[in-house]
Amino acid sequence: MSSFRTMEWVDGNLHLLDQTKLPGSEEIVVCKTMDDVCESIRNMVVRGAPAIGCAAAFGYVLGVRSLVKDLNVENISPNSCSSLVTEGREKIYYSLLKTRPTAVNLEWALKRMQSIDYKKYKSMQSYVNAIELKAICLLKEDINTNLKIGEIGADLLGRCRSFLTHCNAGGLATGGYGTALGVIRSIKSRLGDINVFATETRPLLQGARLTAWELTKDGIQVTLITDSMCGALMQTREIDAVIVGADRITANGDVVNKIGTYTVSVLAKENNIPFYVAAPWSTIDLSTRSGGDVEIEQRNVNEVRGFGDSVWVQENLDIFNPAFDVTPVEYVSAIITEKGVIRGSVGLQEMRQS
Ligand code: MRU
Repeated sequence: MSSFRTMEWVDGNLHLLDQTKLPGSEEIVVCKTMDDVCESIRNMVVRGAPAIGCAAAFGYVLGVRSLVKDLNVENISPNSCSSLVTEGREKIYYSLLKTRPTAVNLEWALKRMQSIDYKKYKSMQSYVNAIELKAICLLKEDINTNLKIGEIGADLLGRCRSFLTHCNAGGLATGGYGTALGVIRSIKSRLGDINVFATETRPLLQGARLTAWELTKDGIQVTLITDSMCGALMQTREIDAVIVGADRITANGDVVNKIGTYTVSVLAKENNIPFYVAAPWSTIDLSTRSGGDVEIEQRNVNEVRGFGDSVWVQENLDIFNPAFDVTPVEYVSAIITEKGVIRGSVGLQEMRQS
């Protein structure tokens, strides 16, 4: 397992390791309300596709808990208050859903929460208890899924010793253990010494701040490069494989992931280095045809103007800041999921049916 907790449900509140403060300090943000969770997802206190899905599930619990309290219907049978509860649940669902648009895990987790039929319960309080349990299960399920992805990935890439990864697809981006970094953790535990090159990942530096922090913490050798060094690294050093995570994988096998992933995939193809994507099945969106149909989150231009309090560009400069890009299916050697290794859109369709 990873040696830190990305999130924890403590006495009915959601505790998040504040990823905006890493690696400088390890601080916890306590979310007591759904709005606290929405803000933490928007501000990237918690980030990474599976992690925001898990956090949103707890946000849903906090939202429903206060709805039931505000309506004063804890001990009432759900059938006597159904229209108010239905309306309130919809609002909670959409408030959480709209926090970040690209990662499909958010919608996946919220749909799982929303699918619990409150009318089946004797009282609204017993329904709240049931959804609390469900969110706890989703978090555990995510960690177990990642452990499985790690083992499947290690079976596939067991002979690789030198990796390049982009952004942070680690324990911090999930309930724990990680997807791409989960595979790296599993290979490390089988092989011993391995090397990981982490891209800085402009503009929010998830690679420099988060991947470097979590790999160092877990005793995995990591070397940091700036994003523009990828090509030179692939030309001059032995890289056995690139491995990244994903925010959404569409029906044709396109991979939507952190901005810069596409560039890395093109360089990998040019240099004959296999490019792997590790992701849970909850990241696969078979209802969307291709990457071009996915809404790409556009973030605040201040993220590009500087970092923290430092601003290094002139005022009023035009800035483009998409948070994600699309890696076309032909650049992806394989997708490693908890159900197995998938190659291309045919592989996705076959795996869906199995
Ligand atoms: O903007 P972020 O930091 O939420 O983006 C995260 C990524 O792009 C990750 O690579 C992706 O979510 C996979 S996490 C297992």
